[in-house]
Amino acid sequence: MIQASMIQGGDDQRFREYERFGSQIVLQTFEDEFFVLNLLPASSDGLFVINEETLGGLEDAVGAMERSSGHTGLIVIGNSRGFIAGADVELIAEVSSADEAQDFAKRGQNCFARFEALPFPTLAAIHGPCLGGGLEFALALEQRICTRSKSSKLGLPEVQLGILPGFGGTQRLPRLIGLPKALDLMLTGKKLDGRRAKKAGLVDRVVPDEKLFEAAVQQLRMCKKPARKWRRMDRILSRSKLGRKLVRKQVEKKLERGQARFFTAPRKILDLAIMAFEADPAKAYEAEARAVGELAVSPTCKSLIRIFFGMERARKRHKKLDPDTPAIERVLVIGGGVMGAGIACVMAEKNIRVRLVDPSMEALERATSRLLKNLGKKLKRRRITAHEARAARDRFCPSTELTGIANTDLVLEAVAEDMALKRRIFSDVSVKLPDDGILATNTSSLPLAEMAKGLAKPERLVGIHFFNPPEQMQLVEIIRHEKTSDQALARACRLATELGKFPVLVKDRPGFCVNRCLAPYLAAAVSLLEEGVAPDRVDRVIEDFGMPMGPLRLLDQVGWDVAAKVCEVLANAFPTRMSPSELFTKMQEAGLLGVKSGEGIYKYGRKGKRTESGAFQRLLKEHGLARSEPGAPNDEDIKDRLILPLLSEAFRCLEEGIVGSAEDLDFACIMGIGFPPHLGGPLHYAKARGYQRVLDRMREFEGRHGKEYEAPASLVRLAQQEGEGEGCDDVRACCPEPVAPAAQETTAKGEVSHG
Ligand code: NAI
Repeated sequence: MIQASMIQGGDDQRFREYERFGSQIVLQTFEDEFFVLNLLPASSDGLFVINEETLGGLEDAVGAMERSSGHTGLIVIGNSRGFIAGADVELIAEVSSADEAQDFAKRGQNCFARFEALPFPTLAAIHGPCLGGGLEFALALEQRICTRSKSSKLGLPEVQLGILPGFGGTQRLPRLIGLPKALDLMLTGKKLDGRRAKKAGLVDRVVPDEKLFEAAVQQLRMCKKPARKWRRMDRILSRSKLGRKLVRKQVEKKLERGQARFFTAPRKILDLAIMAFEADPAKAYEAEARAVGELAVSPTCKSLIRIFFGMERARKRHKKLDPDTPAIERVLVIGGGVMGAGIACVMAEKNIRVRLVDPSMEALERATSRLLKNLGKKLKRRRITAHEARAARDRFCPSTELTGIANTDLVLEAVAEDMALKRRIFSDVSVKLPDDGILATNTSSLPLAEMAKGLAKPERLVGIHFFNPPEQMQLVEIIRHEKTSDQALARACRLATELGKFPVLVKDRPGFCVNRCLAPYLAAAVSLLEEGVAPDRVDRVIEDFGMPMGPLRLLDQVGWDVAAKVCEVLANAFPTRMSPSELFTKMQEAGLLGVKSGEGIYKYGRKGKRTESGAFQRLLKEHGLARSEPGAPNDEDIKDRLILPLLSEAFRCLEEGIVGSAEDLDFACIMGIGFPPHLGGPLHYAKARGYQRVLDRMREFEGRHGKEYEAPASLVRLAQQEGEGEGCDDVRACCPEPVAPAAQETTAKGEVSHG
């Protein structure tokens, strides 16, 4: 293991302290031969990040080494928590001047260039996260070795925050590993473990954890730079003008498709990476710092950082609710259909022993094949080892018998959406469940309060609402009914986090948060169809707005039967705003259920190929609905017809305290609906567009199309404040009667967060 004392050596006489630079950087010497630069975390559970203070420390440390004499090498080593997690994201969030951001990037570049120019061999000994600015630092050193530990992760994830590596990474990485691989890393932000980092040429050696320091010394004493060979294709694509032209063309084509269209950072990364082979280095570094300045103050960067903070909040949620909440180790999933099977697969892969119970043998066989297919794909892509795949398979236990309840930490029901059935299941299992066991439901619309009736311990019932497909969707709504205990919530949140998902707390109200915002948007798409607007036009307009797929494609994916049920529940709860369209029934009667039946609004061929559905067109004709009527709405109107009901419902969810804060609501809509991430979520979008403008548009549409466009009270108030020139950041404070939210959330600074 890496030294628990956090500083190399402890009492070992071979180490001597040379100088300290602030509280996180300690320079030692090893056998009076090498320097050892120790990077310490800010707190016991924190990581080393690059901020004003630590960058100042690194500048001072390199200064001390420049002035020294007689040392023959430098080892930079992190601590048991990691190497460097990157630049401090709070710093990027707060920066409001492009010059300031550019200057900070230049400072980092200069500091790392000084490390690069030290007159002796330098080496990064990496264990744990080595990301962003941390990897850029390691790239400025001559060699890198890394532990085999699962926690060792190397990558440049800046693109995910709407910026780019600004401490020289866009120049050093392509020159080290070649243009194609460097672009792959920088454009996706993917993180590589030691083995994959070695394969990519990012590190020179991978060693067992306990051998890290010893190997670093050995490596420096060899006095020989490791051989770094490029594949022939990487050489051609990086070193020849024609090769680079080819790479540019291919990448540009990708960046013109889908959501990539809305981001500037990837294009700049491409330009800079090519400059690494073509431009004068001074000019290229200058361009890199300038790009960081421009991007760091862009609305896209600020929106993506809000998502990053949303993820961080979600990850820590269980600790806030109950710092001592125990992990969930054994789960019983009841119902092995579309959702139950998917959820059980995710659990088995994530180290949880899961028993999947369904009376249907076919359902269980399908679930097992699903697990084997998922594992097979990961094995093929080398995401897991054969041993890990076998272990996941062993943790998965399908059964037709509802047994093993007494040995279970949590029972999750995922049977059909039927209140009587769900209540019967809970009343059966609750008597055998251990005292601290949790009862969870995956319902997408039924009230938990009703489900809890008659239970001896209603406080242990919680909703864990996964989205379809559970393997891919990262959001999980954790539903609290009036009696749910904090302990049950905390355990549900911890489970979601351990499954790699992001839990958001929501109140037990029809549609919870995501489906409530989604339903009026889908209903508006159906209205447009009924008015004769072509389906592919509806979808295209919304994809041009930035959603990953149009609402009609989404309806086909979800299934018209499932969507009809959710819309019905919401229509019953909010009859003035959400009346269900007849088309839902007609589609079901015609068997046009969407992807699962092969045909819905579109027809789905082999490999998911999408064409117009003749059956749907006939259905429209039969009911007298013509296509492309004269006077059909323009694209801007189509967009607002769809987006405004979603915004309206988002404001109402906050007014009713369905979600604790505007940030969480925006986060849930981005992760659950796919609201364009660069727009920061519906509430953030409304603010950026201007509350008054959004309100005017809603009023215009209410007059033309009806109550579904009625403006929520909080929006009216925000528009008023905006007109009066008052700050209107606090959306919740503008709600008519502040209501207790699902859970009061606090920001990293300990303040209650709003909008
Ligand atoms: P499904 O119809 O695909 O699967 C239900 C399964 O439950 C079937 O395999 C059935 O054999 C089994 N079952 C029926 N009675 C049972 C019993 N007494 N004991 C054990 N198993 C029993 O349903 P799906 O789509 O998986 O939905 C399940 C739940 O998840 C529902 O509450 C639904 O609202 C919710 N949900 C569904 C989503 C979706 O997109 N399908 C998304 C999110 C939640």
